[in-house]
Amino acid sequence: MGFLQNATTVVYMLHTRDHAGQMADIYRLLSEDEQKHARRFVKNTDKTLYILSHGMLRKILGARLSQDPAHLAFRKEKQGKPALEGEKIHFNISHSGEVVLIAVSDTQTGVDVEYMKPDFDYEEILATNFCGRESKAARSALDGRKMFYRLWTRKEALLKADGIGLTDDLTKIDVSDGVREIPEDLYHLKGAWNTMSFTADEHHVGCIATQSRTVSFVRLRPGDL
Ligand SMILES: CC(C)(COP(=O)(O)OP(=O)(O)OC[C@H]1O[C@@H](n2cnc3c(N)ncnc32)[C@H](O)[C@@H]1OP(=O)(O)O)[C@@H](O)C(=O)NCCC(=O)NCCS
Repeated sequence: MGFLQNATTVVYMLHTRDHAGQMADIYRLLSEDEQKHARRFVKNTDKTLYILSHGMLRKILGARLSQDPAHLAFRKEKQGKPALEGEKIHFNISHSGEVVLIAVSDTQTGVDVEYMKPDFDYEEILATNFCGRESKAARSALDGRKMFYRLWTRKEALLKADGIGLTDDLTKIDVSDGVREIPEDLYHLKGAWNTMSFTADEHHVGCIATQSRTVSFVRLRPGDL
């Protein structure tokens, strides 16, 4: 099975610093439950990431569907993956550090971004969650830490695309090939999957996993929607 014909995926990238002046307006788009959830965060940085990602998701989906962003109703799929009530559109969000990624697609999609912690000891994770080829790729890379995060985000993006139903043994999802497309029928995934790694900025690495061949990237700034 190949990629889904005519399907497209857009990855919207947002930096928290770009949107600092709009946070009150974005907060007002959230549902009562989301606002309650946002208020519970102790760290302001976590609160900002939550409000920005959920508020801007509403804006993007509202614009795409010509609906009021504040009135969109979300539900949870199996294993907790969020979906939109009554609509076929696919989406996924990820937030880390100062970056939010929002993927919107005609087909299944998962996205992940990670802030690359300068002092993160990834050796233990290599041993438990990465297969031999992946560990070797990280250990032999010029920048092992960056390679680790690239591999990690690829795994997460694939897991999130499938709603984290693929496998509970992460070593089985070998993403060590430094290529953008993974072969058809990889492991538990049916069809062709496009896993594309990218650098969001010097401190953040991301990956989009989707069943569409076409992926475009948009840096969203205030006033763009
Ligand atoms: C659910 C999970 C994927 C979230 O990942 P994370 O890196 O902590 O957070 P992200 O910012 O990337 O994604 C969070 C968003 O994903 C979405 N999400 C929640 N459950 C999801 C699921 N089952 N499938 C896909 N997306 C999901 C939500 O929109 C969530 O946003 P919110 O927390 O603001 O409500 C993660 O906690 C998890 O269970 N991972 C298991 C896989 C694992 O161990 N990977 C290691 C790779 S080496």
